[in-house]
Amino acid sequence: MKDILTAPFMQEMIRHTTNMYRLGYDERNGGNISLMLDENEVAEYLDLDHIIRTIPTGFDAKVLAGKIFLVTGTGKYFKNVEVDPETNLGIIRIAPDGVTAELMWGYADGGQFTSELPAHLMSHIARQSVDPANRVIMHCHPDYTLAMTGVHVMDERAVTRTLWKQMTESIVVFPEGVGVLPWMVCGTNEIGEATAEKMKTYRIVLWTLHGIYGCGRTMDEAFGLIETVEKAAKLFLLRAVLPEVNTITDEDLYALTVRFSLNYRKDFLDL
Ligand code: 13P
Ligand code: ZN
Repeated sequence: MKDILTAPFMQEMIRHTTNMYRLGYDERNGGNISLMLDENEVAEYLDLDHIIRTIPTGFDAKVLAGKIFLVTGTGKYFKNVEVDPETNLGIIRIAPDGVTAELMWGYADGGQFTSELPAHLMSHIARQSVDPANRVIMHCHPDYTLAMTGVHVMDERAVTRTLWKQMTESIVVFPEGVGVLPWMVCGTNEIGEATAEKMKTYRIVLWTLHGIYGCGRTMDEAFGLIETVEKAAKLFLLRAVLPEVNTITDEDLYALTVRFSLNYRKDFLDL
């Protein structure tokens, strides 16, 4: 059996949590990440028949029965993952009943997975239905995105257009736009269901005055979406107090969709 701390998926998780903490995206225990693992890959590091303990998931995730996830722990700080992965992370497998998670590694202090597990697992189900290669759901609290959700009309078309017009790369990175939820109580099945519904259309979902959800086939892809939205939100706020002199027009955005063959959200442009 190989040392799990050397596994590429573990190293990826450690690198991203550490980086996101340093960027200020995850204060205190803010943020959570889940990464769907390949059973054959996990078998190189863990005995698949050894279950440390079981933890209720709080909802029916039967569609994901047998699926294995590396998930950040609830109440745990991203900055501490690097020094103590086995306490701050866990590897769980969804049991055949769909309402139990089998702990296979981690949460060494008796802890458990993120309180946002419903939003993560429901979003995994939603993304798998539109992209079977999706593996990552990532949530964090980046400053400028949060600030923007407090001062901008929280309408998907309006928010997307503002983000697209801040910089050329925005529409290239998220041509389908961004999903938006009003302020809701976090850590509930309700916000999980609402997030997952949006994830059928969008790879980015903004939670008003809370944070952002991104997804992807890889950690880089999910993180790349989030950092691009965050940069565009930062530019929006930097420009907000100054008179606008130069703009990216709807015709310019359309030209980008042609140049990069983008499957973009047509009704979000005025042409
Ligand atoms: P957890 O510590 O349970 O992951 O919660 C952090 C968070 O960001 C809640 O939305
Ligand atoms: Zn949060």
